[in-house]
Amino acid sequence: MGKIILTGDRPTGRLHIGHYVGSLRRRVELQNSGLFDRIFVMIADAQALTDNADNPEKVRQNIIEVALDYMSAGLDPAKTTIFIQSQISELTELTFFYNNLVTVQRLQRNPTVKAEIQMRGFSDSDDNRAGTPVGFFCYPISQAADITAFKATTVPVGEDQEPMIEQTREIVRKFNSVYGPTLVEPEILLPDNAACLRLPGTDGKAKMSKSLGNCIYLSDSAEEVWAKVKSMYTDPGHLQVSDPGKVEGNTVFTYLDAFCKPEHFDKFADSFVGRKSSFEFHSLDEVKDQYRAGGLGDMMIKTFLNAVLNDTLEPIRTRRHELEKDIPYVYEVLRKGSEVAREVAAQTLADVKRSMKINYFDKGVLDELIKEQTEKYSK
Ligand code: TRP
Repeated sequence: MGKIILTGDRPTGRLHIGHYVGSLRRRVELQNSGLFDRIFVMIADAQALTDNADNPEKVRQNIIEVALDYMSAGLDPAKTTIFIQSQISELTELTFFYNNLVTVQRLQRNPTVKAEIQMRGFSDSDDNRAGTPVGFFCYPISQAADITAFKATTVPVGEDQEPMIEQTREIVRKFNSVYGPTLVEPEILLPDNAACLRLPGTDGKAKMSKSLGNCIYLSDSAEEVWAKVKSMYTDPGHLQVSDPGKVEGNTVFTYLDAFCKPEHFDKFADSFVGRKSSFEFHSLDEVKDQYRAGGLGDMMIKTFLNAVLNDTLEPIRTRRHELEKDIPYVYEVLRKGSEVAREVAAQTLADVKRSMKINYFDKGVLDELIKEQTEKYSK
């Protein structure tokens, strides 16, 4: 059996560099590795609506943003099927059957759902409790449908999605044990670099998020990136250039851990040449050691980080500007991708119904059924 990838994002905003190092960069590598038979990347608009029911326009606008981000980051429609979740109605049908295999209590224990309910003020203990939309509460089940519909073996996602994949695996095991082997149990593929697991915001807060205004977007201009890098959180105890600085918890270094490549030390050596002092570095460890020892200013490491970031972001920006000139093409990719995805999901839904024996009118099945019931009533 082949190796199949399914993954995706909610279209609630443009994608930022946290998405890039957390999953997008890896997807592009996997796409180009030749190790996978099929790759599906989904724009999860239906999941985005589970907590944006009153703002469908936001979701609608961001579908194209995410598609542009995907393709400019290197997802290639010739190798990867990019599609829109809501266009695959088979997914909702699968969800409906999986709903019966999951308990309310199990959903309540899902740590990501728990945290998200708190964050959104849906919780009962909240003063201005909005209540939790049922669709939102159940989205891990719909996510299991997304993954299993494509018989995905591999789901490359960020760390926060781990509970979703675990729940999917449970649903698969339950389904297969009740109805016979039908669904494929997927594996999660996490980023291999610790800094990439969850990139903090530019303000040093745990997560990059649009609502906190601490994101660097893939589509930001070079000027916007530099303004954000300049204002980044470093080590609050590093007041004078000569002071020893802390590297741990210093966001500039976390970003360097995620983005810096060996060739950058040569390429951007002039970042470390200043009026008062200059350094020559050959590895990130050397930069860190000097920062810890003191004498290396925040402006230098920010200048270096800016160059490192732009080395990745500039080609993405250029491709985005090209794609923005051909919006009909982008929608055509999504339309075709959704058509292909729908065929695959329909096949799985047929398998599921056959296993559950609710395929009453399939070829041969109806004849069997009539025979069985006729016999029963002729006794
Ligand atoms: N929950 C994911 C996110 O918030 C999006 C998503 C929906 C997804 N369905 C998926 C990811 C299936 C991987 C597989 O980004």
